[in-house]
Amino acid sequence: KQIDWDPEDAGKGGYEHYMLKEIYTQPNALSNTIEGRIQDNEICLEDFPKGTFSGIDDVHFVACGTSYHAALYGQQMLNRAGIRAQAFRASEYVGSNPGPVSDKTLAIAVTQSGETADTLGALRQAKSQGARVVTVTNVVGSTAAREADDSLFIRAGPEIGVAATKTFSSQAVTLSLLALRLAEDIETATPPEDKAELLRSLEVLPENVEKLLTSTEAKRIASRYAGSKSYFFIGRGLNNAVAKEGALKFKEITYEHAEGFASGELKHGPLALVTPDTPIFVLFNGENDTKTLQNAKEAQARGAPVIAVASEKHSSADIADSFLEIPDTHPVWSGLLANVKLQLVSYHAARNLGRPIDKPRNLAKSVTVE
Ligand code: G6P
Repeated sequence: KQIDWDPEDAGKGGYEHYMLKEIYTQPNALSNTIEGRIQDNEICLEDFPKGTFSGIDDVHFVACGTSYHAALYGQQMLNRAGIRAQAFRASEYVGSNPGPVSDKTLAIAVTQSGETADTLGALRQAKSQGARVVTVTNVVGSTAAREADDSLFIRAGPEIGVAATKTFSSQAVTLSLLALRLAEDIETATPPEDKAELLRSLEVLPENVEKLLTSTEAKRIASRYAGSKSYFFIGRGLNNAVAKEGALKFKEITYEHAEGFASGELKHGPLALVTPDTPIFVLFNGENDTKTLQNAKEAQARGAPVIAVASEKHSSADIADSFLEIPDTHPVWSGLLANVKLQLVSYHAARNLGRPIDKPRNLAKSVTVE
């Protein structure tokens, strides 16, 4: 199904910034992303019927910025199903040797605009080396969509704010659906045992996003930790991608220093920077949380305030200095809810600082030079 873009849609619609509007319209964007793609517990992806990807034995994601973080999410989804997959930063892929590429390689170019020069370069390189190329994009008719063998549209609708918000959510969901299709098609893969539950909770993801948008916690947290020296974000597995995206969003629009790490890496270097002046956002999703909790305590022992992002009854609530609550869901989707919460924190932090939120200095929505 193709969604037509209404020019009216491009207005701010009563919101102070496009970014805020784009955060708040995520339930609708996500409903469009999902619509018709789950039927009777089966994944239905337009041009990719069952069996499309049999024979594929390796997946390369190529992407930049926020799209790279969505690609990391997709990579995790494939790895969980036992599929060889790696997310590459497009600029690093171009002109390098990313390992063997053949007609059994699926290259997935993830790009909101479909016009990012580095991503197009990587797409072209993979194609010239014989890979099958799919693009996951928001823009029908974009260069990536025209040059790839096939396209899968994220259907998020136009995004005007330079900092990507709703398109990250829609990309991560689209890539997850594509990963589930691959897990069914690739002979050696192991599709998730709880597929039915996973799909059911995906269908209510838009509602869950709606629920968390009503709370004012994010605004409070942004004010509470204003003026800190640095902001850290940690998470494990799928939440590693979300931690990196949380930090990118924060630095893009607040101009404050922020970094996102894999939870377990904190002790291998970044801990040297941790002080009472470096709040740390810790993402929990019910998978390996005990270890992540341990990492949070290590930071807290050095005086850093811990802001837990988790569902209501989570054990981290007992130790956390602040708590950002997300609705309870399947661990696979939890990070997407946490990400929306973090978008709001970044937004309010930038607003408190009076930053030009929709057009941060030095940044462009689409970077068409290498
Ligand atoms: C620019 C934008 C980012 C975006 C990146 C990739 O740097 O400022 O927000 O994530 O390009 O863009 P794409 O259109 O390829 O997803």
